[in-house]
Amino acid sequence: MGTITFISPDGESRSIRIKHGTSIMEAAIAADIPGIEAQCYGAGVCGTCHVFAEPPMRSELPDPTEWETEMLSGVPLAGEGSRLSCQIPFEDRFDGAVFRVPERQDAIG
Ligand code: FES
Repeated sequence: MGTITFISPDGESRSIRIKHGTSIMEAAIAADIPGIEAQCYGAGVCGTCHVFAEPPMRSELPDPTEWETEMLSGVPLAGEGSRLSCQIPFEDRFDGAVFRVPERQDAIG
């Protein structure tokens, strides 16, 4: 169990509790975090769970797979720290991680 924080585009931040093994996206959806749409609910094909992982925890997260990297190349507003939140299962060592929600989500494809 741990705590992660989402920062919305207007700067509002919200911290939520998350269990080991739950994806960042699942926790965001369960907590009604605005701006996380997750249209494919974790299949990794829509891109609408896009977040920016913030330092310092960014470098502790597992590297994106080739698939995630490819999908991110089609995500609008992708940039430094971009991740698909459905592809990151929470581990206790990620306690305190911060994710910024992009200004908009558009489904890939
Ligand atoms: Fe669709 Fe993550 S929920 S790519």
